[in-house]
Amino acid sequence: MVSLFSVVLTFIAIILIPGLFISRRLSVPFSIRNILRFIKLAASQNDDEGERNEKRGTMGEKEKRGGLPKHVAIILDGNRRWAQKRGVGTSDGHKAGARRVIENAKDCFAMGINTVSLFAFSTENWARPEDEVNGLMSLFEENFRSELPFFQRDKIKISVIGNRTKIPRSLLSLIRETEEATKSYEGKHLILAIDYSGKFDILQACKSLAEKAKNGVIQVEDIDESVIDKELMTNCSEFPNPDLLIRTSGEQRISNFFLWQSAYTELYFPNILWPDFGEAEYLQALTWYQQRQRRFGRRV
Ligand SMILES: *[C@@H]1O[C@H](CO)[C@@H](O)[C@H](O)[C@H]1NC(C)=O
Ligand SMILES: *[C@@H]1O[C@H](CO)[C@@H](O)[C@H](O)[C@H]1NC(C)=O
Repeated sequence: MVSLFSVVLTFIAIILIPGLFISRRLSVPFSIRNILRFIKLAASQNDDEGERNEKRGTMGEKEKRGGLPKHVAIILDGNRRWAQKRGVGTSDGHKAGARRVIENAKDCFAMGINTVSLFAFSTENWARPEDEVNGLMSLFEENFRSELPFFQRDKIKISVIGNRTKIPRSLLSLIRETEEATKSYEGKHLILAIDYSGKFDILQACKSLAEKAKNGVIQVEDIDESVIDKELMTNCSEFPNPDLLIRTSGEQRISNFFLWQSAYTELYFPNILWPDFGEAEYLQALTWYQQRQRRFGRRV
């Protein structure tokens, strides 16, 4: 009897109390899964107690979240190799990749990372075989359609950035519909880069500024970094510059993704194909990021 009683008490002490605390602090749903995630993240922060003590008392609510990135950008790479390794078709690799996108977005938002941007289709990707390109466009359509209820239920704002000229009409109208349906949500933000390239983004910003200067809307002397920031397509986001950029599959290149925006971004290149990049791998990336933050935190 006594031991049953102490088991219950221990359960309350270990799971429920911190659980409620975590739910309140991160404003995530109360669940064992979320609690375990938080404990893993917190454990990775605790080994620098000294620094924490030093800051205690002056930290704002945001810093207390423990150096989580505000914006994570991901270059999704490795779907094709994943398919090859399993001896299945390329389209199956992309399907597995798409499922992983949704799962990982859910994980990110549950952990309190509110801006996630995904390099889903680069301008260079048009050069792939026609079947594959068409397959990818249909896959985008399927997912926009099937995930809209999830975006609405979880109040996730969706933005698509990139050159829209070549995007098929049916996909384009779905994109518009999704953006329209989710535009009022604040907080969670999922940015999809389709036919995007970093150079294209800078180029379109230059053109827009040149046009404004020509029409006398802006003076050349007034063009500074913050003006350019606002012209880039990432102006749709509260946190346009990613804190952490992950590229899966072991390649160590930015490949024309966020060029201007990743000037101070931590770059992480796990040797894992995108469909295999699960929750454990995500936590590892975040732990790596937090260690970088601690080492360089005082630099700025
Ligand atoms: C967008 O794509 C179209 C079609 O490929 C191209 O003609 C246009 O130059 C692109 N826009 C920019 C700013 O690169
Ligand atoms: C950038 O976004 C802000 C806020 O949405 C908006 O007011 C501003 O006009 C945008 N800037 C440009 C150049 O589009």
